[in-house]
Amino acid sequence: MSPASRKPLHNPRARHGYQGRACSILAVGSYVPARVLTNADLEKMVATSDEWIRTRTGIRERRLAAPDEATSDLAAHAARKALANAGLAPEAVDLIITATVTPDMPFPSTACLVQEKIGARRAAAFDVEAACSGFIYGLEIGQQFVMSRTCETVLVIGAEKLSSIVDWTDRNTCVLFGDGAGAAVLQHRPGAHGLLTTCLGADGGKGHVLCVPGGGSRLPSSVETVHRRQHFIRMDGRETFKNAVQAMYAAAREALDRCQLDIARIACIIPHQANRRIIDAVAERLGARPEQLFVNVDRYGNTSAASVAIALDEAVSSGRVQRGDLILLVVFGAGFTWGAAIIEW
Ligand code: ACO
Repeated sequence: MSPASRKPLHNPRARHGYQGRACSILAVGSYVPARVLTNADLEKMVATSDEWIRTRTGIRERRLAAPDEATSDLAAHAARKALANAGLAPEAVDLIITATVTPDMPFPSTACLVQEKIGARRAAAFDVEAACSGFIYGLEIGQQFVMSRTCETVLVIGAEKLSSIVDWTDRNTCVLFGDGAGAAVLQHRPGAHGLLTTCLGADGGKGHVLCVPGGGSRLPSSVETVHRRQHFIRMDGRETFKNAVQAMYAAAREALDRCQLDIARIACIIPHQANRRIIDAVAERLGARPEQLFVNVDRYGNTSAASVAIALDEAVSSGRVQRGDLILLVVFGAGFTWGAAIIEW
């Protein structure tokens, strides 16, 4: 336990009269596909350079799923690892929540496909769609099931095969994204605080700034939508950047204030890994020290809903985070959506 987290913690839920049980993250796990796409590889595909990508985004390489690997395959790998780390059999899982914008297909849900793949026969299963914010949305939903005693064990997964919706001819977007998955096992742990608070938000008025316009009920797939490349990610990068910094700062600030915590008490800040410059701008506004940040955007790019889930697993498995440490997760994504969570690990 780091010295900063030894003082008694303020429980914001108690302020609202909540006397019930808390929800902890028992264990995490992650999976990234084997294939590495470097900036040098991208130089051969579009008019870009390693120097431009590194200085504007901090990304050096990203992982790409194999053609026969779908989001549920990545998710199942991460889920198995998280359950193994928790020492639990798949049959122990009561509920699977999968956050993704790249489901294997419109339906059935990716969560149902994962349930079958890992053999979690007892589990209910559904997907959450909150883009890059999906994992924190999933954590909050999952913890409600645990706190209300509806479920003993909830598996929350963030998983994406973004390479399937990236326009590989558009240099504005194709350099940014990657594939991967991360998972967390939620349970009540006697005597532990676990998830101290979760702040979620959205601004649907900015949906058009970052979207995939085609393939849904508004613009069903047709020869024309394919011809117009409407099944790929469209993004106004500058507008997204500006909103991401503002919303991530505000969500993190609110989460800290609710828990009456100074940023100095946070042992590890895990921001959505979209762009190093966004991460640094949010950290600076929060008054955080660089060594408080966990960053892996250089190796994976933006993996959307999987981003903070993979980073949390790497922070834990590398020993960067110890039991008892306070962690701040903060995210932003299409919708727009955003969120922050404070966890006593
Ligand atoms: N290589 C070389 N030049 C490029 C590239 C590239 N890959 N991409 C864009 N450029 C050019 C542009 O065409 C533009 O040229 P112009 O001035 O001649 O028009 C120039 O570089 C500058 O473009 P900007 O958009 O101003 O570059 P900026 O510094 O804003 O960086 C970036 C662009 C990296 C996209 C940034 O805006 C960003 O990271 N935005 C946020 C993305 C994000 O966080 N998304 C998260 C949510 S994703 C989700 O929810 C699925």
